[in-house]
Amino acid sequence: MIKKPIVQLLLIVIVLSISGCGALERIEWITPTARPTPIPPTPTLPPRVDPSTAAVGRWQWTSYTSDVVDYPPAQVWIDVNDTGAVNGVLSIYPNYPEIPQAALTLIQQNGCNFTIESLNDSTVNGFFYSETQARVRVHVTECNVKFYGPVTLLEPLAGEFDIAFDPDLTDLILHPRELTPIERGQRIFAQYCSACHGSYGEGMPAIPSLHTDQVRGYTDEQLDTIVRNGVINTVMPAWGVVLSPEDFAGVIELVRHLDEVFPQ
Ligand code: HEC
Repeated sequence: MIKKPIVQLLLIVIVLSISGCGALERIEWITPTARPTPIPPTPTLPPRVDPSTAAVGRWQWTSYTSDVVDYPPAQVWIDVNDTGAVNGVLSIYPNYPEIPQAALTLIQQNGCNFTIESLNDSTVNGFFYSETQARVRVHVTECNVKFYGPVTLLEPLAGEFDIAFDPDLTDLILHPRELTPIERGQRIFAQYCSACHGSYGEGMPAIPSLHTDQVRGYTDEQLDTIVRNGVINTVMPAWGVVLSPEDFAGVIELVRHLDEVFPQ
């Protein structure tokens, strides 16, 4: 069992149950020190607003906090309708070498997903505190890996997301149009890369920033190879097999222009 020295202690044990055959495989993994931007302290939140006043469209997470020091990277989005009802997905990215490669690859590419259908239950509980901001407390013990089946987290993902209405993304969803390569890259980055590299490519404790001289110094060919094939013996997945040629080209274009798109 290879342990990454940069990764902290073994903490979470999961049970992967393969749907259909009923076999249970116990798997251990190491949780990272990586975490998204913590929620700034807000001792006095503004009063709650009526959900039906919330902006209709796509809402994305902006920051996350947790009482637990270590947890896997995670992200969340919700769609809010005109009555204030929500549906969305919380994706968790447990991503350690001890997980069988088949499941690991699927988790890296699709996340381990929890469907959000309400902000009023014991697993996902939240409230709107303005027309464009909400706070969502999660306590998730099970998620689902596409093509693989349910995964039980023996150590629940417990914490709070701040999420905000995203007008640009909503516009794009409501009025689809041809994207520029960089716009396409931004969507791909938000969906596939930000859980590890941060929303703006700023990196996390165990995962490199993409705003570095090292990344700037790669030739087009080197950058293409890294992102296409992944980095062996690390959690950096191979994207050449997941993304369409247009999406792949877009995300490479974005990484090339990351300093302009997301100034540090
Ligand atoms: C599951 C976590 C994870 C995801 C998701 C992920 N990466 Fe990475 N990435 C890493 C890690 C860890 C490394 C460092 C590998 C190493 O040690 O060389 C890395 C390295 C890189 C590097 C090289 C950085 C350097 O300093 O050499 C690039 C470029 C990169 N990733 C781009 C992307 C892009 C683009 C995406 C989305 C399509 C993505 N990554 C998604 C974890 C991830």
